[in-house]
Amino acid sequence: MKIGNVKIHGNLFLAPMADVTNPAFRMLCKKYGAALTCSEMISADAVLYENTRTTSRGISCEEEKPFAIQLFGNSASTIAPAANIIEEKYAPDIIDINFGCPANVLVKDGSGSALLGFPEKIRDIISSVCGKVSVPVTAKMRVLHDMRKTLDIARIIEEAGASAVTVHGRTQAQQYAGKAEHEYARNIKNELSIPVIANGDIDDGFSAKRILEYTGCDGLMIGRAAMGNPYVFMEISHFLHSGEQINTDECAQRLADFKEYVKLLELYGLQEYVDVRMHAQWFTRGIKGGRHIRQGISKARDKNSILQLMESLCMQFPDKSSNSVIHGN
Ligand SMILES: Cc1cc2nc3c(=O)[nH]c(=O)nc-3n(C[C@H](O)[C@H](O)[C@H](O)COP(=O)(O)O)c2cc1C
Repeated sequence: MKIGNVKIHGNLFLAPMADVTNPAFRMLCKKYGAALTCSEMISADAVLYENTRTTSRGISCEEEKPFAIQLFGNSASTIAPAANIIEEKYAPDIIDINFGCPANVLVKDGSGSALLGFPEKIRDIISSVCGKVSVPVTAKMRVLHDMRKTLDIARIIEEAGASAVTVHGRTQAQQYAGKAEHEYARNIKNELSIPVIANGDIDDGFSAKRILEYTGCDGLMIGRAAMGNPYVFMEISHFLHSGEQINTDECAQRLADFKEYVKLLELYGLQEYVDVRMHAQWFTRGIKGGRHIRQGISKARDKNSILQLMESLCMQFPDKSSNSVIHGN
């Protein structure tokens, strides 16, 4: 698939997630097959006022390419110049604009999903950003109850010059509750010529296959299922290609990934920005005995004690089913 002039090798994208998709985490997802990664959302105002703590979210490296940086704001007059600064400073392959975040602090400010109530503002933002940067511009949107109005917004995004749109099939009011409704992405895909990416509740090979087939979309974006489990990209892409599930020792896999994650955080100098304990909690989600170990992790003093706890978990509950396959006994 191509987004503007950017070649994307694959159809599984990592969703932008604040406090999750830092460069170290994105590199792990890339390693397991995420075709396109995206920064956490960055405030256009923070870029204009040179808030280094926030704009450091744009840091990347050559091996991550292609990658996108996501911006949020409430008007073209801030987002467009911020996009220009971001392009010069961090050289992303794509700039994505947030029309989906339902968080109160953004909505009150007229940013994120609040913009869905003002389609002409969306047009203005996309066309102004396109006029200010040389890389493709994309949009990530939530949906409205009204299908027709949702389709109108998607059409406006395309007309204004966006090169792709991601559709998270939930309304602002839903936040993260209920099920994502993929009929929106399916109808938008039928209407638009630019690539359309479906997002929401894609957490394994089965849901990925079902949603890809149902929507006919060009790609899938995966968010929460990747938190603490970047390997999910490998599992999903394997399933889409072979129809089979990979048999892994989940605990050992998560532990190895967490160790690599900690190394990458050090490599990129991100330790002071990332709450390693919180991330370790995610890496033990869904693992047998994980709940018990998370209590210990929340009290752990440093990364070595976290690693020890995770190691003890894997020794306590070795995954016999997958071991038996690996060793053939
Ligand atoms: C912790 C967290 C942070 C998020 N931050 C962002 C963000 O910065 N920008 C954005 O467009 N969406 C953000 N989202 C929404 C996700 O990108 C995605 O649209 C949503 O989680 C639905 O996909 P999923 O069901 O695969 O998780 C965030 C979601 C979570 C859970």
